[in-house]
Amino acid sequence: MQKSYILPFPITYAMAATILDGKALAREIRDNLRKQVKSLTEKPGLAVITVGNDPASQLYVGGKEKAGIGAGYHFVWKKYKEDTDEITLLSEIDKLNQDKKIHGMIVQLPLPKHLSPFLIIDAIRQEKDADGFHPLNLANLFLGRDAILPATPKGIMRILEHYNIPLAGKHAVVIGRSNIVGKPIAFLLLQKDATVTMCHSMTADLAALTRQADIIVAAVGKAWLVKKDMVKQGAVVIDVGMNKKGDKIIGDVAYDEVKEVASAITPVPGGVGPMTIAMLLENTLKCMEVQKKLSTR
Ligand code: GUN
Repeated sequence: MQKSYILPFPITYAMAATILDGKALAREIRDNLRKQVKSLTEKPGLAVITVGNDPASQLYVGGKEKAGIGAGYHFVWKKYKEDTDEITLLSEIDKLNQDKKIHGMIVQLPLPKHLSPFLIIDAIRQEKDADGFHPLNLANLFLGRDAILPATPKGIMRILEHYNIPLAGKHAVVIGRSNIVGKPIAFLLLQKDATVTMCHSMTADLAALTRQADIIVAAVGKAWLVKKDMVKQGAVVIDVGMNKKGDKIIGDVAYDEVKEVASAITPVPGGVGPMTIAMLLENTLKCMEVQKKLSTR
């Protein structure tokens, strides 16, 4: 007869966290976009305006350019000096608004302090707003209507969908209230029936809230803010942070320790970042389709 042994203490094996591979998913999306673009008679055109020489912006736009050209897009990078005035930028946006070869445009943020991002973004035609930052596109997002969605939150939702992460009835804690990520991702999660808590720099006892979260979205730009003891066992952790540490880019989440408790986590780099670029390209194609529809009306 086989002997059975009873262990004197329970042994629990921590399951390895699923790595939410945004890089691979983004590659798949770009490959599909390239195939779609090949079948078109006209290339989707994307213009990016940068003002000044912010090194991070140069790097991000370089990534957008490489991905855009790689997917067969017509890509235009309009580079302006740091001291450019609003009139000059508004006149460039006006030109791009009229340019038939340009279907989507973005103004890379942040802008130098003397420029109002609101004034500049308001000038982009709603149908060419590939970033989804125009107030009318954000209003559509708020109302749950079909909209051009901001690329980073859209990319996060795509990751969650791809990995079949349930959202209905789950508690999502968003850290950061930016117009680019925090606010729109909160609304998108809400639309998927998550219960959303928004945290920010004035939140009292952040850890008490994050410990209740089934899903954490960290988008504050503070290196390794989210530690293991702030995360519930089995939580899904999305890291939007891109912080420079020496010559490395690190996230808002202390990845090595948090992956010991999370059930799934996005790496930095290779998580949300590549998805933002893929979603920008997808948005440009959507802009093109919207403009085609409008022109046949
Ligand atoms: N700066 C950081 N992220 C973004 C983005 O998604 N779009 C633009 N335009 N600027 C950014």
